[in-house]
Amino acid sequence: MSAPWLQAMQASDLLAVHAVEQASHAHPWSHGNFADSLRDGHWAHMLLRPPQPQAPASWHVPQGARLLGHAVAWLGVDEVHVLNLTVAPDVRRQGHASGLLQAVRGWAQRQAAHAIWLEVRVGNAAARALYRAAGYEEVATRARYYPLSATQREDAVVMRLPLPVAI
Ligand SMILES: CC(C)(COP(=O)(O)OP(=O)(O)OC[C@H]1O[C@@H](n2cnc3c(N)ncnc32)[C@H](O)[C@@H]1OP(=O)(O)O)[C@@H](O)C(=O)NCCC(=O)NCCS
Repeated sequence: MSAPWLQAMQASDLLAVHAVEQASHAHPWSHGNFADSLRDGHWAHMLLRPPQPQAPASWHVPQGARLLGHAVAWLGVDEVHVLNLTVAPDVRRQGHASGLLQAVRGWAQRQAAHAIWLEVRVGNAAARALYRAAGYEEVATRARYYPLSATQREDAVVMRLPLPVAI
């Protein structure tokens, strides 16, 4: 099977991106959240592979490739913030999130960012393990940051990856 490739997200991809997003999160981003990210010029990329008949048709982008996962990041003052990182349920533990994180890191370094920041639900053990494995440190907690149910909220762990500054 050919290797996955990275491709910039476009408005025409959002039905597939949102379908994978909905299959992956208890509290998914809306279609509008992704559209806003594209409008605001955020770094938004997809990991793709050739069409896979066994994957739902809705997980295929208009050109026919199968969406494995997606990531969205934003450049602030000297720092990049990862806003969304998602891999489809049937292709996890194959290094795809690590590949997306590496792509974010490469972009951040090209922007001369000093660090990458992100928030993750305290109960999201898989994501916390992923980020730790990629070198991120847990630096703070934001109490009751995420919705959990109609009556409950969940803390966020703030994680940071320092980047070497080019001399
Ligand atoms: C978290 C998520 C993005 C990981 O994607 P993935 O493609 O499976 O991750 P990778 O295969 O790149 O994993 C790299 C490493 O992260 C860690 N890791 C990933 N998933 C893990 C899990 N379920 N349990 C423990 N460690 C895990 C492991 O160290 C893994 O290396 P290994 O497979 O060699 O042990 C994916 O599970 C997902 O999309 N979850 C739902 C959405 C989500 O929570 N997004 C993050 C929001 S902050």
